[in-house]
Amino acid sequence: MMERLEDIAHALIAEGKGILAADESPNTIKKRFNAIRLESTEENRRNYREMLFSTKEAMRKYISGVILHDETIRQKVSDGSMLTDILKAVGSLSGIKVDLGSKLLAAFPGETITEGLDGLRGRLREYYELGARFAKWRAVIAIDRTHLPTRGAIRQNAHALARYAALCQEAGIVPIIEPEVLMDGNPGNHSIDRCYDVTRCVLEQVFAALGEARVKFKGMLLKPNMVIDGENARHASVEEVAEKTLHCLKETVPAAVPGIVFLSGGQSDEEATAHLSAMNSLGPLPWALTFSYGRALQAAAMAAWGGKKENIAVGQHAFSHRARMNYLAALGKWSQQQEKAA
Ligand code: 13P
Repeated sequence: MMERLEDIAHALIAEGKGILAADESPNTIKKRFNAIRLESTEENRRNYREMLFSTKEAMRKYISGVILHDETIRQKVSDGSMLTDILKAVGSLSGIKVDLGSKLLAAFPGETITEGLDGLRGRLREYYELGARFAKWRAVIAIDRTHLPTRGAIRQNAHALARYAALCQEAGIVPIIEPEVLMDGNPGNHSIDRCYDVTRCVLEQVFAALGEARVKFKGMLLKPNMVIDGENARHASVEEVAEKTLHCLKETVPAAVPGIVFLSGGQSDEEATAHLSAMNSLGPLPWALTFSYGRALQAAAMAAWGGKKENIAVGQHAFSHRARMNYLAALGKWSQQQEKAA
């Protein structure tokens, strides 16, 4: 079994493979299920994730690991085996969301702090026993055209990320550090240059905090937003997003970090793929650039499945397609033709 942090991190970003973020909290998945008129029961959540994880070919070829929610890492399938056994069988690593969500930050109106540090050492020990070899902690950074985020909120979130990361490495678990400058935030009318400035400041603070906490850069992955204009003011071309995102990352992310795995929220499925491919075509780069998508890998599959047993095959087909498109993007080889050829 792979035990060194560096080996785990490398396996997660190997040649075009990326991560499936399937760690939606019961609250979030309820919203997604509402859209397909499906009740969010434990059984439906399990059936949905079992459908994704048993898409064998896609999981083997394109997905290196899956981020799970606490419920999923303990869940059994109908034959009594663990859901995580399906992942093992296709050679996919199990990851675990360990933060307990973002809560309003006292004295900072409109900003949040991510909670979950208390007792984290013990929880990580248990998750390791349950098979988790990597973890995720998401800090949410609000953005507007002028005032948000504040330096205070950035620093407090960076500090929490660093303490989480150090505890993960102590437990033999690779931390994914996710400081998300919201791409789908409200009011979502900021420019791409505003997003650049904010993302740069956030990444500077995060790496300063990680250094101070003695986090080993070789044994972690960064999960950032892309540098993009707000959802309600989208003008930038694919090339501009790719260039500005790369510029920002090169200014802030040490080359010792093995990989950067983007989140997708706030972009359409195809935008998330096109941007990733454009960046990879501008290489060589100091780190691997791939995906850790939730929505952009799942939206089409969930809609095609619609909660019905008879739709499992079409759901899996839709998931397989997006996984392959993002794999091509991680190699810088995606094109509109590939998208349509499927
Ligand atoms: P999205 O790709 O849907 O943003 O989800 C990724 C994730 O893990 C957010 O925390």
